[in-house]
Amino acid sequence: MLGILLLTFLLCDADSTCPTELNPLSLEPPEIIEEYGASVFVNCTSTEEFHDGMKWKGDSDMEEDEIFICKELFMKDWNMEAQCQIILNKSHTCSKDLKITIYKNPEDVQVFPASSSAVEGTQYVLQCDIINVAPVQNLTVRWYKDDNIIKTDSFTNTTKTPVSESSVLTVNISRGDSGAQFRCEAQLDVGPNGPQTPVSSNYSPTVSYAPEFKDKTDIVDIYVEEGDNVTLNCEADGNPSPRFRWTNDGVDISENTNNLYINQVNTNTTYTCTASNHVGNMIKQIHVHVVKTTMATTTPKPSDPKMVDCPLTMMPAEIVVKFGDPVSINCSTSATDFELLGWEATIGGKTSEMSSLTWEVDKLEAWHTEPKCFITIDPSQCYVIPNITVYKTPDKVSVSALGYRPMVEGTEHQLTCEIINVAPVRYLTVKWYQDNEVVQTQTFNDTSLTPVNEYSTLNVTPKSNYNGAHYKCVTELHLGPNGSETFSTESAPYIADVHYKPHIQSWTRNYANVEHNISMDMVPCHVDGNPQPTVQWYNKGNLINGFEPLTRTQSGEYTAVFENSVGNISTIVDITVEYSPSFTCDDRYDVEENGKPQTTCEPEGIPAPIVTWFKDGQEEPLPQHWTRKYSGEYLLRATNKHGQANHTLDLNVLYAPEFTLGNDSMVVTLGENVTFNCSAKGNPEITIVWKYKSAENVKETTRGSTKVVNITGATSTNAGVYLCSAKNKIGTVTRSVTVTVTLTVNELPLYLPLWVPIVLGIIIISLIILYFMARKKKHGQYAFVPDKENERSEIPMNPVSNGKTNGIKV
Ligand SMILES: *[C@@H]1O[C@H](CO)[C@@H](O)[C@H](O)[C@H]1NC(C)=O
Ligand SMILES: *[C@@H]1O[C@H](CO)[C@@H](O)[C@H](O)[C@H]1NC(C)=O
Ligand SMILES: *[C@@H]1O[C@H](CO)[C@@H](O)[C@H](O)[C@H]1NC(C)=O
Ligand SMILES: *[C@@H]1O[C@H](CO)[C@@H](O)[C@H](O)[C@H]1NC(C)=O
Ligand SMILES: *[C@@H]1O[C@H](CO)[C@@H](O)[C@H](O)[C@H]1NC(C)=O
Ligand SMILES: *[C@@H]1O[C@H](CO)[C@@H](O)[C@H](O)[C@H]1NC(C)=O
Ligand SMILES: *[C@@H]1O[C@H](CO)[C@@H](O)[C@H](O)[C@H]1NC(C)=O
Ligand SMILES: *[C@@H]1O[C@H](CO)[C@@H](O)[C@H](O)[C@H]1NC(C)=O
Ligand SMILES: *[C@@H]1O[C@H](CO)[C@@H](O)[C@H](O)[C@H]1NC(C)=O
Ligand SMILES: *[C@@H]1O[C@H](CO)[C@@H](O)[C@H](O)[C@H]1NC(C)=O
Ligand SMILES: *[C@@H]1O[C@H](CO)[C@@H](O)[C@H](O)[C@H]1NC(C)=O
Ligand SMILES: *[C@@H]1O[C@H](CO)[C@@H](O)[C@H](O)[C@H]1NC(C)=O
Repeated sequence: MLGILLLTFLLCDADSTCPTELNPLSLEPPEIIEEYGASVFVNCTSTEEFHDGMKWKGDSDMEEDEIFICKELFMKDWNMEAQCQIILNKSHTCSKDLKITIYKNPEDVQVFPASSSAVEGTQYVLQCDIINVAPVQNLTVRWYKDDNIIKTDSFTNTTKTPVSESSVLTVNISRGDSGAQFRCEAQLDVGPNGPQTPVSSNYSPTVSYAPEFKDKTDIVDIYVEEGDNVTLNCEADGNPSPRFRWTNDGVDISENTNNLYINQVNTNTTYTCTASNHVGNMIKQIHVHVVKTTMATTTPKPSDPKMVDCPLTMMPAEIVVKFGDPVSINCSTSATDFELLGWEATIGGKTSEMSSLTWEVDKLEAWHTEPKCFITIDPSQCYVIPNITVYKTPDKVSVSALGYRPMVEGTEHQLTCEIINVAPVRYLTVKWYQDNEVVQTQTFNDTSLTPVNEYSTLNVTPKSNYNGAHYKCVTELHLGPNGSETFSTESAPYIADVHYKPHIQSWTRNYANVEHNISMDMVPCHVDGNPQPTVQWYNKGNLINGFEPLTRTQSGEYTAVFENSVGNISTIVDITVEYSPSFTCDDRYDVEENGKPQTTCEPEGIPAPIVTWFKDGQEEPLPQHWTRKYSGEYLLRATNKHGQANHTLDLNVLYAPEFTLGNDSMVVTLGENVTFNCSAKGNPEITIVWKYKSAENVKETTRGSTKVVNITGATSTNAGVYLCSAKNKIGTVTRSVTVTVTLTVNELPLYLPLWVPIVLGIIIISLIILYFMARKKKHGQYAFVPDKENERSEIPMNPVSNGKTNGIKV
């Protein structure tokens, strides 16, 4: 027994595995690598000539007499499999799987920039989309820049069906990359049978960069002779090509040229050139100095001896004079033994023998004036130079924006303040105001005393709330002792026009209004943006007209997309379209007792209407549960804030049958008549059925909802249980009547003495006679009995016969 089990086990084992050395199958070709849609012949050959059958898995035909089977395979199923199977004998089954690779060369390869623009110094992103390729794990994406591989991508998804993939290339772009060719090559590598040439796509970016001066300098000094003609050079590179703007001592020269030709220079002057494109801007200052060739090198003034305790007093000792204004300084001495007191100056020099002398000039028109008050006290001379500051407030202070306009939120912008002709610049402070707040302060180190033009730059990265901000540039000349005298000049405001993406300031998450009087444009919202954003409404992904009134079926979630040139923002609002109540329920309602009234005839309407029930003109409060007394006709009035609806309905409260009487038992005397009934009520209409042992003397009559059972002349067969069941569609109830048939006490003695003793007597006599007869036979005593004896034995046993005596059962 154990031996057989073991054998069976071994056979089963041999069956499930086919030892590779015994597998007689080989496939030609052993592996298929084919394009989707192709067809291939496969030949499965067995080296074993004798076998019990060969077939392809899935085929039903079994070849028994062949050593090879062929099959044409159509590459139409991405997950296709093929297996050749052979039954060698009862115990060995072998199979061979065909390796199948179905490929699909990419349908399309597309390179496109994923960055909005290629700006030098930023990261530039190119994306390559490879559309519908299979199997993606054998796909290699190579990125080339001008034939040099710069990146390789492969994919790990093992799906066999075609997929679309993307590869992303990030480069630090520079101007040298302009015109370079970026190529994305998608190569499907499935072996020599597969596609050999890659599918590729090219893209050549144009790189923009801020202007840059060719001579790389931004302050240039040019020395010319008076009357010379000169060309000022402001050549700059940039992409897009820069625009040029020139000013001369703060005055615009409307010429967009990189070289400015100036005819006959006569005075020292400053030219400013601004080269700008949308990426940025550069400013160059060219100072043109006119020098006299004839002039010899000026010898510095010899430093005159100055007596520390020169007995001179200046009134005032320090003075601030506006260029061109009058000035007067009194010089006096406390000395008495002096010879001469005098002023040495280019204008207004004088001498006196008095102890006080005033230097006066009606119009001070020299930037550097150092009048000396001297005193000669024999044998020496000493002097004092009063501290005179000649100033000039700027001719013009103005703010302008460079680069593209308007400003865009989050993008850096430059404002330039031009200050024309101011002196002395070392006492100048430039304050930038944004509205009333100082945001930047600048001072200058230039020690020149003559008027110069200055520039101050403010970098602003505007926020949305900077829109409409007033930018001002205020120059302050702090003069006098400790800057006690201040002369301010203010530029006209530059009003910022800041473009910014829409912001939601206030929003309604839920909005409800009545049907036909609600549309999306009514939803209260305050969305800010510059330029003024437009709004589009979507419901379940579909664009809808915001002005079109909505109907009751259109409640739901809506998405608003606010958009302007800077960006967009979206938000969601739940719309409830309200409408007045209406009834769609039936005119008649069958409800079951104990059912809940709330679900009976519910009106439509939003907000949910309040329903009032009226019966006979009186409001009828609804009970917790229906009871039968609520049957009747009602008027229902549904009310919500948009209106009212009436509906009349007939309410019919259904309930299961109920008996008016309980279980019962009846006693009837034999031969008497008896009547009992079954009566029940219920809604709807009930049916009453009696169940009992039928007999001829039992009759049923129906009186209304009562079913009567009449037994006429009751017999013992009428005894038993009579079941009455009452039924309607709500339920069934059953009650029973137990009928007992009895003999009356008066009747019994009438019958019993008459026949019972007679019958008993006859039986006893018969038994005695039979006994004696049996004894005689046993003892051989036989007696001849006369015929009378026979006659005696025929004595009727039932001398009293009465139809009513047959088996009384009670
Ligand atoms: C299948 O292969 C067998 C054995 O190599 C060869 O005899 C038979 O001709 C082939 N059948 C076809 C249809 O090529
Ligand atoms: C079935 O065939 C295999 C291989 O030909 C052989 O080794 C094995 O003995 C056979 N078994 C039976 C029961 O014939
Ligand atoms: C492979 O790609 C298919 C189709 O795009 C996708 O459904 C599946 O989730 C991917 N599997 C893995 C492991 O990424
Ligand atoms: C690109 O620039 C980033 C940051 O400036 C730097 O970290 C990265 O190494 C650069 N990549 C290349 C390829 O130069
Ligand atoms: C295809 O990819 C799979 C998985 O990476 C690899 O095993 C197989 O060798 C590849 N086929 C070819 C022809 O390179
Ligand atoms: C400058 O140009 C003017 C004509 O435009 C000419 O008359 C003058 O001689 C030139 N000056 C010099 C120094 O070449
Ligand atoms: C012009 O500039 C030169 C060089 O800085 C200077 O020597 C000369 O005095 C200046 N001329 C005038 C009129 O300021
Ligand atoms: C001005 O002088 C201060 C102090 O000497 C120095 O730190 C600053 O860089 C100078 N500014 C300019 C624009 O030369
Ligand atoms: C002249 O006055 C200025 C400003 O008050 C002061 O900075 C400077 O030192 C004074 N010069 C002399 C020579 O006193
Ligand atoms: C409903 O009935 C009430 C009184 O019966 C009446 O005043 C009202 O106009 C009715 N409403 C409608 C909409 O018929
Ligand atoms: C019983 O009913 C029958 C028929 O209705 C009638 O003839 C008979 O007299 C009744 N018997 C008694 C005892 O009431
Ligand atoms: C049944 O009995 C009732 C009451 O005794 C009597 O009124 C009725 O007529 C009887 N019906 C029949 C069919 O005998």
